[in-house]
Amino acid sequence: MMFFQKLRKAQRTRQLGLNSGQMGIYNRYLREHEGWEKHLKKSREAIITAIDAAKPKSICILGSGLLLDVPIDTLISMGINITLVDVDHPKQIVKKYSSNPSIKFETHDLTGGLIEYLLTARLKGINFFALINQILKASIYTSNADLVVSLNLMSQLSDIPIEFIKHKKTLTNWQYDEIAKAIQQKHIESLPKGKSLLITDIMEEFYDDRGKLIATRPTVFADLSMLSDVQEWLWEFDTHKTYNEDAITKLAVVCGLVS
Ligand SMILES: C[S@@+](CC[C@H](N)C(=O)[O-])C[C@H]1O[C@@H](n2cnc3c(N)ncnc32)[C@H](O)[C@@H]1O
Repeated sequence: MMFFQKLRKAQRTRQLGLNSGQMGIYNRYLREHEGWEKHLKKSREAIITAIDAAKPKSICILGSGLLLDVPIDTLISMGINITLVDVDHPKQIVKKYSSNPSIKFETHDLTGGLIEYLLTARLKGINFFALINQILKASIYTSNADLVVSLNLMSQLSDIPIEFIKHKKTLTNWQYDEIAKAIQQKHIESLPKGKSLLITDIMEEFYDDRGKLIATRPTVFADLSMLSDVQEWLWEFDTHKTYNEDAITKLAVVCGLVS
């Protein structure tokens, strides 16, 4: 690769902030422990319920990251073969589990190449139609594990590229939403029907200090009507107003089987 292309890729990798995003998740988790733990526990319990029903020999966790929401010790003790998929596995997780014979790490961009495209494409060529084409033609990783879990990943799949694009290009709000929808729809299509569990936030809810809901912002635009055995809960995401300085942020979370 030419020097300038390498430089562009290095700069944009920092700007995309995948790794700093995980650090951000961990710091917020430490700050917001109580509210987060309720959400993480519900996520772990949903995975265990799905395992009790499906009795899988193998499981694939998409967006495994720091494993905060993965009942990893239970999975190991049940003798299930575990594949962890993330675009950037945290070093401490790789160090802790890479010698475990039942755990395999796979590194994939689960948008099917949009990250690499944004890291390397010339800015001039990046526009709404180029992005939509890129998303639609992507061939996305599909797992053949007995149980596949998309774990608090789906809104990030679109948010990370969109935040990056917003710094580089001005598109209309409608176009940002269409891009998010296309990425999310592709992700849902990549989840094998009848053996996938999807856990994702779908809405940001903003509250004032008296607990009154003052605004909302959808984080998922794709159709989720195919989900069955649905559970919903609120994730107390940010009580310190570091995410939105004007409000306390909660995330509406949906969990269901893809059928
Ligand atoms: C909100 S975290 C999910 C929580 C995670 N299970 C944990 O406990 O840290 C989202 C994860 O998705 C990963 N991710 C974001 N975009 C991705 C992409 N395009 N492909 C694969 N993984 C991605 C991030 O690296 C991060 O680890």
